[in-house]
Amino acid sequence: MKSVRGMHDQWGTALHQWRWVEAQIYRVLETFGYEEIRTPVLEHMEVFSKAVGEDTEIVEKQMYQVQDRGGSSESTPEILVLRPEGTAAFIRAVVEHGIHLQGGVGRYFYNLPMFRYERPQKGRLRQFHQFGAELILSAAPEADAECISLLDQIYKAFGLKEYSIRLNSLGNTASREAFKTALVSYFGPHVAQLDEVAQKKFHRTPLRILDSKDEKIQALAKNAPRIVDYLEPKSLEHYEAVKSCLKTSGVDFVEDPTIVRGLDYYSETTFEFTSELLGAQSALGGGGRYDGLSERFGVASFPAIGWALGMERLILALDQSGLLRSNESLPVAYFAPLGKGAFEKLYGMSVDFRRKGISVAMSYEKEKALKWQLKQADRARAAFAVIIGDNELAANQAIIKDLKSGQQSTIPLNDIEAELLRRAPK
Ligand code: HAM
Repeated sequence: MKSVRGMHDQWGTALHQWRWVEAQIYRVLETFGYEEIRTPVLEHMEVFSKAVGEDTEIVEKQMYQVQDRGGSSESTPEILVLRPEGTAAFIRAVVEHGIHLQGGVGRYFYNLPMFRYERPQKGRLRQFHQFGAELILSAAPEADAECISLLDQIYKAFGLKEYSIRLNSLGNTASREAFKTALVSYFGPHVAQLDEVAQKKFHRTPLRILDSKDEKIQALAKNAPRIVDYLEPKSLEHYEAVKSCLKTSGVDFVEDPTIVRGLDYYSETTFEFTSELLGAQSALGGGGRYDGLSERFGVASFPAIGWALGMERLILALDQSGLLRSNESLPVAYFAPLGKGAFEKLYGMSVDFRRKGISVAMSYEKEKALKWQLKQADRARAAFAVIIGDNELAANQAIIKDLKSGQQSTIPLNDIEAELLRRAPK
């Protein structure tokens, strides 16, 4: 049997690299004062249909559904969905726990698997992993700049250079309505040549035409009306302030009027980090402001902004630019007994050392020769081998062998612990 298409096992070197990447990201997030939040994998369908939007690809085609069994207290089994993104679930949790009522700015992050039924290809999976950051309760342009600069700082922490930040503003609702009318009259005549599904989609959500993969539409989009020309004065003022904050923070960006995003909850600032290292799936991460989203969860609107980055894509980019490292922790010592008596001695010591937090690898074969034992030590990639044969056992000694340099010395058994602690790689 194989794993489900687009969903992968993680193990060995790749997992050690993954954990190294995670550790660097945690460090940056904590420096910026973000606190972790974890939501369940399953949510009620309407968390996403209401928040992400009925007309989006994610809700229309990509959600995995699970039929709840329905127990004695639940007469009609409900359809639940596997979380396709983190923001709607985050706001559901915020509202449910009244976190928004605590006052002051809230800074949260998550590191969670997401599920979307997409066509798998390089950098596009059905189970993928996002780090996301969400800042609630500040409408200030500095909050937008903080968020964007946080994501920038994460990529910079790895030394990644080959990416660009694309910035746009979708304005408030009134700005978007005016812009939609302009788009409908600009694209209208050409849309008539598209297939029925595309036409329907265009009339329902004209903004998303700017995101179209159709080459003809893409060519037309180059001269299409730009949202910045339709921004209401307040939205324009906010957008200008965000740009100026970003400049002050030393964050380089380009303005890209096509960054409309594939989720419905955005307003005002939107952004995407793209990298040519990734090929067709070029989005490293993206996000934006979603001030009105809380209303869809039945509470008054409060300001919020955030982003999510794709772990698989970040790792691809790091690998391609030679920046990927690993935080594998290897055993300090491999215990190599030559004979039954030596085995008993070393086995007892291994139990004791592990309890004390010294990592020891050992095979439980009792009658193997030195050559075999050293091969195991090599496979375990231990720093030292601790070898006991009959002579050493009789003299209450052990040989400690540095497996890198090959140098070895014989020392009293009682000194092994101190010697390993002294020489263990830091
Ligand atoms: P998104 O643009 O849908 O935004 O996803 C964010 C990132 O997740 C993408 O830029 C990409 O790196 C990664 N990603 C998305 N789909 C896949 C996939 N199928 N395979 C691999 N990686 C993928 C959101 O999800 C929003 N919730 C972001 C946000 C947070 N906005 C505000 N706050």
